[in-house]
Amino acid sequence: MRLYVNIDHVATIRQVRRTDEPDPVRAAVLAELGGADGITVHLREDRRHIQDRDVEVLLKSARTGVNLELAADSKIVRVACDLVPMQATLVPERREEITTEGGLDLAAARTRKQVSAAVARLLDAGIRVSLFIDPVEEALRASADLGVEAVELHTGSYASARGDQDRARELTRLQRGAGLGRELDLAVHAGHGLTYENVTPVAALPEIEELNIGHSIVSRAVLVGMERAVREMREIVLDAPSRVAVPGLWIAPLGY
Ligand code: PXP
Repeated sequence: MRLYVNIDHVATIRQVRRTDEPDPVRAAVLAELGGADGITVHLREDRRHIQDRDVEVLLKSARTGVNLELAADSKIVRVACDLVPMQATLVPERREEITTEGGLDLAAARTRKQVSAAVARLLDAGIRVSLFIDPVEEALRASADLGVEAVELHTGSYASARGDQDRARELTRLQRGAGLGRELDLAVHAGHGLTYENVTPVAALPEIEELNIGHSIVSRAVLVGMERAVREMREIVLDAPSRVAVPGLWIAPLGY
């Protein structure tokens, strides 16, 4: 299991004042010292947090892999192809949303066409491509058809589920989605809304090989520092298989 730390919200704090601090690139260095296997940033079309400069400097300084999240928009795809991150994750994007709200709607012909064009350009530039999708069969099969190497399963519904029954249902969807992903020969990642309290059952699913976690780690980092926040999350993630005897059936609160 690899832990990728999303540092967007370090840039969010900076952009509130439009100054040069805190610098997300420095946060990335500390995340790596805390054990992050990679760094994730989302270069949004409206540049509300991460800026082009951040991605450029990060790519020069990162000692781990950089996963660039982006919309299937031709201008942003061009930026990605010029910068060549190790991995690009295509995500849906709407200007009015607070954060990414769902997986790519690959059933919609227009989205599928845009995603297909973006995938072709990114692959051509030598970038590993992942698609952010909901854990549903159609989206997994459509992703495999598009020739990408990986999918990131949206864990938002799991994270926002209230009550044991709802959470167990969402966990089962993730488990089935991850299983089908592997059957289709896709690398399976997961992320969105994962926290120190809810990550264990997801991190224990053996088919998932990468987690992308941002808000919870940055929130904790504000209080205890980035290095410690990442180290604590990494311990929970790596410990998960030993805590969960039967993957998918463990739904008790963690109390880490
Ligand atoms: N994965 C994707 C595709 C995302 O868009 C985000 C949010 O930027 C994350 C993971 C991380 O979500 P969170 O900040 O809730 O951990």
